[in-house]
Amino acid sequence: MTKRLRVAIVGAGGIAKAAHIPNYLKCGDKVEMVAVSDVVKEKAEELAAEFNIPHTFTSYEDMFEKVQIDAVSICTPNKFHYPATMAALQAGCHVLCEKPPAMTVQEAEKMADAANETGKILTYGFHFRHAPEVEALKRFIDNNELGDIYAARVTAMRRRGIPGWGVFTNKELQGGGPLIDIGVHMLDTALYLMGYPEPDTVFGATYQELGKRKGVGLMGSWDWENFSIEDMARGMITFKNGASILLDTAFAANVEKHDEMNVSLIGNQGGADVFPFKIYQEKHDTLIDITPSYLPKKGYHELELERFVDACLEGTAPISNGKEGVYLQRIINGLYESAEKGQAIKIDGRVTV
Ligand SMILES: NC(=O)c1ccc[n+]([C@@H]2O[C@H](COP(=O)([O-])OP(=O)(O)OC[C@H]3O[C@@H](n4cnc5c(N)ncnc54)[C@H](O)[C@@H]3O)[C@@H](O)[C@H]2O)c1
Repeated sequence: MTKRLRVAIVGAGGIAKAAHIPNYLKCGDKVEMVAVSDVVKEKAEELAAEFNIPHTFTSYEDMFEKVQIDAVSICTPNKFHYPATMAALQAGCHVLCEKPPAMTVQEAEKMADAANETGKILTYGFHFRHAPEVEALKRFIDNNELGDIYAARVTAMRRRGIPGWGVFTNKELQGGGPLIDIGVHMLDTALYLMGYPEPDTVFGATYQELGKRKGVGLMGSWDWENFSIEDMARGMITFKNGASILLDTAFAANVEKHDEMNVSLIGNQGGADVFPFKIYQEKHDTLIDITPSYLPKKGYHELELERFVDACLEGTAPISNGKEGVYLQRIINGLYESAEKGQAIKIDGRVTV
């Protein structure tokens, strides 16, 4: 029998319960779930009992010391991604860390360095990369159907989608609002499809217009009295290769659609929208649109976890990596810094906050 991957969880909250553990379990014989750690003892114990996982801990350091673990999912609030990932890598584990990579550029850099030094996998929970639309479009792009992609638009907009659970509205624990939480997903998708170009300059603006007052909550009622994040962020990002991205993201904004997640790409041979998938080209003196009549329907998280497990067992490269995490973190933190300063800033190789 091939080796089973011994997997543990740090952070026994919503994403661990809904996405990570059930999808690890779908990997069958390839995976053995061995431990859960959470600072809240009852949360670790409840989750472990629900999925029949033998060991629980209130400290991940303790867990890494006492149980033999091959791979770990980091599912804590953003503030703890860095220390938990570093502890896991130093304990010799492969790491799937939930998005965003970290709170600061320095943290993301140290995480990438630690993965390189230990030779362990560090990958991030960018599950949209596994969407059939993204996979299909990537194949078209790899076959040069869009040509050089020089512009993109990134949208992650909710009309009244401020999360009413967890710590998503707490800047101290999350590092920010929609930009670092949902904008980061579409930004990563755009960068992935553009070949992860190196960022150069960012210009950002953030707003806090709706989150600090009581209102209709389509994702539960949020803690508006302690709302410390932006409710909307906008940005322009330029890259060393000359490409640029325009970004719009909000947890709450007065727009028509309740929830819009999309990436639009513009290349010199074609353009595309990802959600829903559509390609725009000019061929034989005709402007044409291409839409698929079939796309496979496997869960994004299921594919993410399955591929992480296979990468760990087979020693293959994961779909996202530490270096991309650094580029992404430079953009996110650069946009926040730019919004605060009210000016565009160079982030090329320079460490921001
Ligand atoms: N990929 C996605 O679409 C997606 C969706 C939701 C959340 N997330 C990410 O997952 C992470 C967790 O989100 P969630 O919704 O599960 O939050 P949650 O609040 O439901 O769960 C977080 C858990 O971490 C625990 N925790 C806090 N500090 C800890 C520490 N130092 N060590 C161990 N456990 C600790 C908390 O007690 C809690 O049980 C966040 O980074 C978030 O951005 C990703």
